[in-house]
Amino acid sequence: MSKTGRILTGHRPTGPRHIGHLVGTLENWRDLQDQYECFFLVADLHVLTTDYEHSDRIQENTMETVFDWLAAGIDPEKSTLILQSAAPQHSQLSLLLSMLVSVARLERVPTYKEQVQQLGLTPSMGLLTYPLLQVADILLYRADAVPVGEDQLPHIELAREVARRFNQLYGEYFPEPEALLSHVPRLPGIDNRTMHTSYGNNILLKDTPEETRRKVMQMYTDPTRLRTTDPGHVDGNPVFTYLDIFDPDKAGVQALKERYTAGRVGDVEVKQYLAGVLNDYLAPLRERRARFATRPNEVREMLRLGTMRAQVDAQETMEAVMQQMGLSGGLNLNRIPAGQAASGAFC
Ligand code: TRP
Repeated sequence: MSKTGRILTGHRPTGPRHIGHLVGTLENWRDLQDQYECFFLVADLHVLTTDYEHSDRIQENTMETVFDWLAAGIDPEKSTLILQSAAPQHSQLSLLLSMLVSVARLERVPTYKEQVQQLGLTPSMGLLTYPLLQVADILLYRADAVPVGEDQLPHIELAREVARRFNQLYGEYFPEPEALLSHVPRLPGIDNRTMHTSYGNNILLKDTPEETRRKVMQMYTDPTRLRTTDPGHVDGNPVFTYLDIFDPDKAGVQALKERYTAGRVGDVEVKQYLAGVLNDYLAPLRERRARFATRPNEVREMLRLGTMRAQVDAQETMEAVMQQMGLSGGLNLNRIPAGQAASGAFC
């Protein structure tokens, strides 16, 4: 099947991936691989924008992230995996594009404003230009589409603006990338807040079946229900949100909901059932993950080859962009006509 366009997307390697990443993004990426030419970026430079004082985990987290991607079905035979810090073109393009964007424009990006409030620190230049580095990630491969969550939409909007501005000033070159929003509901954490790496309320793809069961047994359910015989609520009850997503037996879930609402089944039984459903769902992933995690050198090699392959495209973009912006780049220097190549004159 011929592929209909090019996709670039990625994650910051902040730690192992959880089941919210799986159903929210990774399964979507996995399916997109057959339709699009896909580039998946491990955005490790982006981690430094907030964690530069605690950067000792980035390499380990990079590997964990890639193990989880591969476990979820990201396939290096179909797609290209890129390590951002190993391809200098990302930083180079970010610098060139920074000429086209005002400081005020970056200060208005909502994710930046939120981060500054949360961190309560004096923001660094790196944090301010975070979205611009992301723009460079996307435009470097002239991606047509970027699958992202809603929180990332302002960054895609910036990418479109920068592409337009570049094209106006220097001639058509970049496609305006479209955001591809995935429509999977956000998975709540086991405490019913948003599932988040830093909240300790997640279930990781790397968790064992026992860890998974233990976390499920701690799950928040219906706080208004004190006894098994009390009628329970299924809406907004994360145990049922999970069952809706992970249990292939829809009729079974429906029957269980009816018993729960009627006060004819206890929380413990429902959680035991969910733990089994989740463990079945995750079993093939865990098997794949174990195969990769026990061979880190092969995975590193996969990442190296992907990054090298990506750099052929990245370098082509850099040469074109430099030329169009009036710089020489590598081209003019490589184009010294035969016969005029450095003689002995400078020796
Ligand atoms: N900012 C993205 C996130 O936090 C990660 C990212 C970096 C990204 N570069 C990208 C996503 C390019 C899509 C395209 O999730």
